[in-house]
Amino acid sequence: MKKLQDKVVFITGANSGIGKAAALEAAREGAKVVIADLAQANHQATVDEVSAIAKDVLFVPIDVSDVESVKKAINTTVEKFGRLDVAFNNAGVGGPYAAIHETEEKNWERIIQINLTGQFYCIKYELQQFLKQGGGIIVNTSSLAGLKAEHGLVAYTAAKHGVLGITKNIAVQYADKNIRANALCPYYIETPLIDGLGNKEIHDAWVQGTPAKRLGRAEEVAKAFIFFACDDSSYCNGTYLAIDGGVMA
Ligand SMILES: NC(=O)c1ccc[n+]([C@@H]2O[C@H](COP(=O)([O-])OP(=O)(O)OC[C@H]3O[C@@H](n4cnc5c(N)ncnc54)[C@H](O)[C@@H]3O)[C@@H](O)[C@H]2O)c1
Repeated sequence: MKKLQDKVVFITGANSGIGKAAALEAAREGAKVVIADLAQANHQATVDEVSAIAKDVLFVPIDVSDVESVKKAINTTVEKFGRLDVAFNNAGVGGPYAAIHETEEKNWERIIQINLTGQFYCIKYELQQFLKQGGGIIVNTSSLAGLKAEHGLVAYTAAKHGVLGITKNIAVQYADKNIRANALCPYYIETPLIDGLGNKEIHDAWVQGTPAKRLGRAEEVAKAFIFFACDDSSYCNGTYLAIDGGVMA
């Protein structure tokens, strides 16, 4: 039996990197996959790739920083599939490196709006649907920057710590409603997000700072997503998994 057979799995940021790997993995596990990403994202190639595995695939445009867009994306999902079983709140952006005293307010606001407030918007409306239908599962993408300081990325660090805070709150408020939430905390993963961060020297330092002496792959995060998205993790709630090649150790 596949782990997500016929489950409706909604994934934000599913057109790239970790979200796309999760969409493909969910499709392999039998899910109906909702690829939620920015409207202007060139999503057809992703939709085609996932559709080659899953028969039910839907693209919904979403800007997680815009509450009306979030509501519409979740409504469209429920209109199409009748319910929502798993929500992977994963969309996010990296920030430019700066010392805290030199961080521009507009950069702080953008990162917090997408990476933290955007998560809250998604979670609020996913929970409303879960309460209506009698349960559901949330997986949130935090980061190793949700567990420790990421030097030079103050807004990102604050947002990702906040994601863990929301995750724990869901667990204590909704466990008795058949709803559980857990988070993923990846270290640097080879995706387009990190291509835009730092230079070769910084990338080399990330690799050297990892006991594994390599960065992670999106597929390795996707496997952890599946664990939290299915009944294998039925007694995990409000917790997280570091996917970090040993960095936290
Ligand atoms: N790559 C890493 O090293 C790493 C490490 C830890 C955590 N993360 C987190 O993983 C998540 C996915 O990152 P990734 O590495 O796959 O990046 P990515 O850039 O490959 O993918 C991010 C996706 O999010 C989408 N997105 C961005 N802003 C959005 C918005 N406002 N509304 C909807 N969609 C939006 C993008 O279009 C893109 O498809 C992010 O939350 C990121 O912070 C990444």
